[in-house]
Amino acid sequence: MGADSLAYLLGRGAPRAPDRTALEVWGRALGAVLTRPVVITLEGDLGAGKTTLVRAICEGLGVVSADAVTSPTYSLIQQYEAPHGGVVHADLYRLRSDAELALLGWDELVDTASVLLVEWPDRAVNTLPPETIQLRLAHDPEHADRRLLRIHAPTRR
Ligand SMILES: Nc1ncnc2c1ncn2[C@@H]1O[C@H](COP(=O)(O)OP(=O)(O)OP(=O)(O)O)[C@@H](O)[C@H]1O
Ligand SMILES: [Mg+2]
Repeated sequence: MGADSLAYLLGRGAPRAPDRTALEVWGRALGAVLTRPVVITLEGDLGAGKTTLVRAICEGLGVVSADAVTSPTYSLIQQYEAPHGGVVHADLYRLRSDAELALLGWDELVDTASVLLVEWPDRAVNTLPPETIQLRLAHDPEHADRRLLRIHAPTRR
């Protein structure tokens, strides 16, 4: 547990072109070693697997009803309970303006959330802390059932 295994999972321990099962296994392992507070962004096209990965991370965090982790249709933000505190899941795909972000109390959420997982973070990119862990998923042009995973994470000691 802790920083060593986190650094490993974000580095050599990350799968480069996982199928769904491998992505979920990795996501659960990541969720289990996250140190709080943490912000994770998930980028990628529609259907790239962002919500699938959020759900796996939530399982790793111990969110009880992790199968309820979906992309909410009406609310941009969902909160889940986990043993070590709350998890905030934002999907900003439907965000229309910076004003809407302000209305959500976004800046305070970023400051106070223990775990913040953000799909479509480009809508709020200037509001996120420099130590954000950035995950990017892309369809694998050669394998319909695989996704290319790219990670940009701050170096941790
Ligand atoms: N290797 C894979 N990793 C993740 N999902 C996969 C993979 N292969 C197939 N899939 C399928 O792709 C879909 C990914 O959907 P998901 O909702 O996670 O994507 P998303 O990036 O959140 O999309 P959106 O931008 O619409 O919210 C799921 O139906 C999943 O079963
Ligand atoms: Mg999604």
